[in-house]
Amino acid sequence: MDSRVAKLINEQINKELYSAYLYMSFANYYEEAGLKGFANWYMTQVQEERDHALIFRNYLLDNDVKVELGPIEGVEVAFDDPLAPLEAALEHEEFITASINQIYAAADEVHDYRTMNFLKWFIDEQLEEEANARDMVSDMKLYGKDQGSLFAMDREAATRTYTKASPLAAAE
Ligand code: FEO
Repeated sequence: MDSRVAKLINEQINKELYSAYLYMSFANYYEEAGLKGFANWYMTQVQEERDHALIFRNYLLDNDVKVELGPIEGVEVAFDDPLAPLEAALEHEEFITASINQIYAAADEVHDYRTMNFLKWFIDEQLEEEANARDMVSDMKLYGKDQGSLFAMDREAATRTYTKASPLAAAE
């Protein structure tokens, strides 16, 4: 594999694990704030992000590329209100989309069609990640000030359950 593409994928493992770390911090905030449904939503997201990191790790190993695990940066632990983590999540997912696009562009430059094909699952996944994050921001802005609506949103977030990412499930 081209060394730049391999480096970017190694960095992406770190970014996905950082995402898990960031979302665990959001879950901690919501747990402390008594919003256990939102805490559940983000702890489910933690599991999804861990899956994403594993998919990139497995892809490097399958291609006989050394996996390099760097340190994971610390994350914010204090938030002003229940909207703040949701806005940070949207901004973060847009950053992740840009990062995946960067790997895709690097793979395209060296005609690495296998990596481009591999990344398609992530390109679709990012559409869903951003849409979910955007919906949560707009719902909180519209209804979050009303205690009854916040309670209903928290109940709804509590129903989210984890499903193993399909590329990992398929590899079993
Ligand atoms: Fe791994 Fe939330 O994107």
